[in-house]
Amino acid sequence: MSPRKKAQIAFASAVTLLALSGVAAYVSIVRLLESEELVIHSLRVQSALGDFTNAIARVGRVATAYVATGKEEFLGDFQPYLDEVPPTMQHLRDLTKDNPSQQALCERLQQSTEQRMLLFQRSIELKKKYPKDETAQVRIRQQTAPFSSVTTEITAQMREAEDALLDVRQKASAYRLKLTILILGFTFVIALALFSINYRLLSMELTARERAEHASRALSAHVMRLQDEERRKFSRELHDSLGQYLAGLKMSFSMLASDHAEDSRYFECMQLLEQCIAETRTISHLLHPPMLDVAGFATTAKWFVEGFSQRSGVEVKTNLAETPGRLPPNLELVLFRVLQESLTNIHRHSKSTKAEVALKLVAGNAVLSIRDFGSGVPPAVLARFHTHDASGVGLAGMRERVRELAGQFEISSDSSGTTVRISIPLPAAAVAADASAAD
Ligand SMILES: Nc1ncnc2c1ncn2[C@@H]1O[C@H](COP(=O)(O)OP(=O)(O)OP(=O)(O)O)[C@@H](O)[C@H]1O
Ligand SMILES: [Mg+2]
Repeated sequence: MSPRKKAQIAFASAVTLLALSGVAAYVSIVRLLESEELVIHSLRVQSALGDFTNAIARVGRVATAYVATGKEEFLGDFQPYLDEVPPTMQHLRDLTKDNPSQQALCERLQQSTEQRMLLFQRSIELKKKYPKDETAQVRIRQQTAPFSSVTTEITAQMREAEDALLDVRQKASAYRLKLTILILGFTFVIALALFSINYRLLSMELTARERAEHASRALSAHVMRLQDEERRKFSRELHDSLGQYLAGLKMSFSMLASDHAEDSRYFECMQLLEQCIAETRTISHLLHPPMLDVAGFATTAKWFVEGFSQRSGVEVKTNLAETPGRLPPNLELVLFRVLQESLTNIHRHSKSTKAEVALKLVAGNAVLSIRDFGSGVPPAVLARFHTHDASGVGLAGMRERVRELAGQFEISSDSSGTTVRISIPLPAAAVAADASAAD
C-alpha cells in the first residue's frame, strides 16, 4: 500500500474513532449531569422536610409557652409562625410531585398538621377566655398527642424514603462520573495512539522524500559534471582536430594565392575559410574557455562579455572586483556558467539593450550579480521555478550548481527588469588572502 493511502486510512480512522469517542463522552456527560440533578433534588426534599418540621415545632413551642405562662409576647409570635406552615407544606408537595408514594405521605401529613394547628389555635383561645381552666387544656393536649406522633412518624418515613433515593442516586452519579472519566481517558489514549501512527507515517514519508531529493540532487550534480567534462572534451576536440585541419587547409590554400591573384572566387573561398576558423574557435571557447583555467574568472568574464556584446548588441557594463589570487577552479567554473546562462537569457528573453555584471567579495562570499532592464520573467514562470517545476534547464541548472557549492541563488524580477544574484562561500584560504590584501 502506498504511504499516501496509508496516511489517508490512518487519518480517516482517527477522525471516525475520535468522533465516536466524542459522542460517547457527550452522552455520558449529559447522563452525569442528569444524575447530579437528581441528587440535588433529593437534598432539596430533605431540606424542605427540615423546614417543615421546624415550622410546626416553632408553632407548638410558642403555643405551649403562652398556655403555660400566659405572657402576651408568645402570643405575638404565634400567628406569623402559623402562617409559615402552609407555604412550607406546599413547597414539600411541589418537590415530591414526581414521586406518588411521597405524595400520599404528604397528603396524610397535611391532614394531621391541619388538625394539630386547629388544636393549637383552640388551646390559645381557651387560655384567653378561661386563663385558669387547666382541665380544658389537659383535654386539648390529649387530643393533640396522636396528631403529633402521626406527624413525627410520617416525616420519618418520608426522610427514610428520600435517604434511600439519595443513596441510589449518589451511587448512580458516582458510576456515571467513573464512566465519563473512563471514556475521556480512552479517547485521550486513542487520540495519542492515532497521532503517533500519523506522525510515524508522516516522518517515514518525509524521510523517503528527503532521500529522493538527495538522490535527484546528486544525480543532477553528476549530470552537470559530465556535461562540463563533455564540453571541455568537445571544445578541445574542435580546437585540436577540426581547428588544426582548417588551419592546415588555410596554409595550403594560401600557397595557391599567387596562382589565383585575379580570381574573385578564390578570395571568397579564402574569406569563408577564415570565417570557419573563427567560428570554430569561438564555439570551442564558448564550450569551455581555456582562458578560465589559465587566467581565471575575471579575465574570462571580460572576454566573454565583450564577445557577447558584439554578437548580441546588448551593451554590458562590468564591475569585477579583483580577486586575491585565483579562486578554486570549480567555483570559477560556476561563476562563469552563471554569467554565460544569465547573459544568454537576457539576449533570448528580456528584450533589454543594457545589462550590468558585478562581482564583489562580501563577508567571505563571492557575490555575482547580473542585471537587465528588460520585460522581466513572467510571474507564472517565476512561480513555477520557485516550486521546482521549471520548464527550462537554464535557471534550474544555475541553482543546482550554486547549491552544490553551498551557495545561495536568488532571482528577482518585475516589469522593470531582472536580477540574478548568487553568493558562494569562499574557501578559508581565499578569505584570509582577501583580508590581508585589504590591510
Ligand atoms: N532575463 C530574463 N528576462 C526575461 N525573462 C527571463 C529571463 N531569464 C529567464 N526568463 C524566463 O524564464 C524562463 C526560464 O529560463 P531558463 O533559462 O530556465 O530556460 P530557457 O532559457 O527558456 O531554456 P534553456 O533551458 O535553454 O535555458 C525563460 O523561458 C523566460 O521566459
Ligand atoms: Mg536559459
